[in-house]
Amino acid sequence: MAKILIATEKPFAPVAVNGIREIIEKAGFELTLLEKYTEKSQLLNAVADVDAIIVRSDIVDNEVFDAAKNLKIVVRAGAGYDNVDCAAATAHNVCVMNTPGQNSNAVAELCIGMLIYGLRGMFNGASGNELKGKKVGILAYGHIGKLVAEYCKAFGCEVYAYHPRRTDEQIQADGVIPVHSQQELFEKCQIVSVHTPSRPENKGCVNYECMSKMPAKAIILNSARKEVFNEEDLVRIMKERTDMKYLTDIQPACHDKMCELFEGRYYATPKKMGAQTAEANINAGLAAAEQIVKFIKNGDETFRVN
Ligand code: 3PG
Repeated sequence: MAKILIATEKPFAPVAVNGIREIIEKAGFELTLLEKYTEKSQLLNAVADVDAIIVRSDIVDNEVFDAAKNLKIVVRAGAGYDNVDCAAATAHNVCVMNTPGQNSNAVAELCIGMLIYGLRGMFNGASGNELKGKKVGILAYGHIGKLVAEYCKAFGCEVYAYHPRRTDEQIQADGVIPVHSQQELFEKCQIVSVHTPSRPENKGCVNYECMSKMPAKAIILNSARKEVFNEEDLVRIMKERTDMKYLTDIQPACHDKMCELFEGRYYATPKKMGAQTAEANINAGLAAAEQIVKFIKNGDETFRVN
């Protein structure tokens, strides 16, 4: 009987775990659970005899693959799979998948909430600003970027997007204005929402050069990954541009410094909250379970990323 492990340092909502269990058991497999673990050794022990693992942002590195002698597949229940060492997976003959789009709505809704929070001066009691009429730039027009654009349009924003692999026609079809470089996006838009995945070629791509050209009262929102920002440049520009705010769902390495230096202009969620809804957990968790069943039973490799 195939053994499936859910290993989540940040657990799914119980309703999602129940749904995953139902799919796994109906397929005749066994489900085990490792939640809220604090030591890597717990993960290494838990993977010892499993065929498949469902994770979130949990780190799955070479050591994990070495410890998981029966492992055939890892599914990252979510979009970004930068937490999984895909080269090590391939070397161990393990398939890696993600569940693209399944938690996008939760992240997009959080973005709107954070933008309003920032525009309203973090609810400090003073007069703030509205989202309506603002020029909003979407950096990376994927599942989440597209939804943030749609919701911002509903708020009456003028929405621009930059995506290196989308045509103007694809972006225009959504009533969004395409721009042709990241630089142009930052120069045009008072608000920029960053959705760039953490890939080696994107590391530090949001830098002084683009941030420094933003219009007055700029707001930068990061619901992607901390690695896509050049943090030294971020601190520098926040010092220079006292009209600028930085809102993020991922605490940067310089979080303590940012809190100390930029009170009222810097906000970071205490823990990555974008996909933390029961709905997103159900969508991504159940998709992960179904992908595992199809992979083990039929060899279906749809959504394979390595
Ligand atoms: C993702 O890549 O899907 C999001 O960043 C959500 O990550 P999480 O599952 O750790 O909340």
